[in-house]
Amino acid sequence: MRVARFAAVAVVTIAVLGAAAPIRAAAAPDARALYVEYCQLCHGAALEGYAADNAPSLSSPTFRASASTLFLQTAIERGRAGTAMAGFGKSVGGPLDPVEVDALVDFIRGGAGAPPVLPPRASKGDVAKGAHVYAAHCESCHGTAARRGNAVHLANPMFLASASDAYLRLAVVEGRPGTPMEAWEGKLAPPEIEDVVAYLRSLARPLPAAPVLPPSPAPPLPVVLNPGGTPPDFTLRLGRYAAVADVAAAYAEKRRMVIIDARPTSDYLRMHIPGAISVPYFDMRGLDTVPNDGTWVVAYCVCPHEESGRVLDELRKRGYANTAILDEGFFVWATQGHPVEAADGQLPIAAPPARPAAFTPVPAVSPRS
Ligand code: HEC
Ligand code: HEC
Repeated sequence: MRVARFAAVAVVTIAVLGAAAPIRAAAAPDARALYVEYCQLCHGAALEGYAADNAPSLSSPTFRASASTLFLQTAIERGRAGTAMAGFGKSVGGPLDPVEVDALVDFIRGGAGAPPVLPPRASKGDVAKGAHVYAAHCESCHGTAARRGNAVHLANPMFLASASDAYLRLAVVEGRPGTPMEAWEGKLAPPEIEDVVAYLRSLARPLPAAPVLPPSPAPPLPVVLNPGGTPPDFTLRLGRYAAVADVAAAYAEKRRMVIIDARPTSDYLRMHIPGAISVPYFDMRGLDTVPNDGTWVVAYCVCPHEESGRVLDELRKRGYANTAILDEGFFVWATQGHPVEAADGQLPIAAPPARPAAFTPVPAVSPRS
């Protein structure tokens, strides 16, 4: 079963890449420019991670030495539904074509080439014992099956579909130098490591369906919510942030406002605040439709401030008078039970990670220098 699911991801990714590569092979994309535009705000200028939302390092030597091409392509193309990592592939409503995804994969590798394929070795550990190991040693950072902690959500179905047992084992044994993930070799007995890998594998679930893409161009949505309503009266923290409680109250009272989803459209298609319009942080042409007449405009993301912050800055640059960021972000909105419109079969939302991360990652080390 698990092998079949993993194979399905492989086939989809390869099929997408295979189909598009010949058409776009002409101009090699500028991977650094793509990274700066789309990824740096969370993964950091030197790929060290933790610039926002506890996004993991993409530069730790053990990550680079074990993440296969397919692992990286799948993470970037499909994202990790239910976390801040959106799907960036055009196939799911993101901005990147397969050639650009591949350019980013090479960029993350730092020119080191594909790592050797890890010999597959399924864990024969004991799931129940592994659950105890996990609760004692891992849960404080990685959270539970249903709740993300401060570190990568290991129960995420997209993650488990692309991370083999060999990949998981190696990460546990060697850790991720330069991050809080220590090497557990010598601290856990080898059978305990096998047990915790077996436990992680037992958390794998079927993948959520890729969202159905709207026709292109998408039919225009009404931009202003409740055009006849009275304006809200927000008090902004630090002149920028409107609390979820205040925005939810204004929403319930049918006040006049515009709500902007600043995430990649792939995330918007999966789940959004009903009535919000999609204006991704990297393509703000949609702002041209927003009336500049004093109507309140509230932007949100999951991060919870970086993507929405870019939209807010652009609105203010354009002279919009009443603008705010949804302070705690979309996950808090959703987990508090405020209205959310979700595509069929989408994942429940992992709870938001705490931020900022309470550590300073050491500078990136090149794995092959
Ligand atoms: C809004 C913040 C954000 C942005 C923007 C973002 N990421 Fe991520 N990314 C994350 C988070 C958070 C995770 C971990 C997901 C989780 O919680 O499990 C992640 C995971 C990943 C992973 C998997 C790493 C691992 O250890 O499993 C890769 C690869 C990755 N991102 C690449 C990218 C690339 C390339 C871009 C730009 C195209 C990008 N990300 C943009 C937040 C972000
Ligand atoms: C102190 C916090 C902490 C603890 C405790 C911890 N981890 Fe981690 N772990 C992390 C962080 C942070 C990362 C991501 C590191 C990075 O940025 O590359 C990570 C990464 C991983 C990864 C690789 C994920 C990926 O996307 O490639 C695995 C697998 C993993 N941890 C398993 C475990 C297991 C199993 C345990 C318990 C034995 C454990 N961790 C304990 C913080 C922790």
